[in-house]
Amino acid sequence: MKIFLIGFMGSGKTHWGRLLSQKLGIPFFDLDEQVSAHAGKPIPEIFAADGEEHFRLLEKEVLYMITESHDSFVMACGGGSPCFFNNIEYMNQSGTTVWINTPADILFERLVKEKPGRPLIKDLSDDQLRSFISRKFADRKIYYEQAAITVDEEPVHLDSLIEKIFHA
Ligand code: S3P
Repeated sequence: MKIFLIGFMGSGKTHWGRLLSQKLGIPFFDLDEQVSAHAGKPIPEIFAADGEEHFRLLEKEVLYMITESHDSFVMACGGGSPCFFNNIEYMNQSGTTVWINTPADILFERLVKEKPGRPLIKDLSDDQLRSFISRKFADRKIYYEQAAITVDEEPVHLDSLIEKIFHA
């Protein structure tokens, strides 16, 4: 079983992905971490040195590499992963996609504390961050909505997440 967790930055994909993989007894991959290991540098450095376009190509390459080489896993994707190339179609064809749909005000609360490590928001004021979240979220919704499963509950509960996946 291949499970892809998608959703906006700050939606808890890594946190829930790790717990889900432990509960299901299958490997966990954090796509950002894997991209960073593949490139030999942290994500903010990839953006700064090589640009977002290069990052998106790497992200796609690593997504395919992991998906093709493992039968079973939970993957926490990056916030933009389903929104570039045909990645969302690829994920839907390869396994089960799960969108963690966290409300914008909660994303703001989390992201405002995490700006420095996140290249797309590191230079934004708090007001700019608020409008970035609503603008980007509106742009990306058409991709996130293609997930097989949507999790709207906040906070997320692991047991209901598992129940949704097995009843999809
Ligand atoms: C991005 C989200 C990040 C990371 C990169 C770009 C985005 O992942 O891939 O900074 O475009 O939303 P997380 O959603 O895991 O923070």
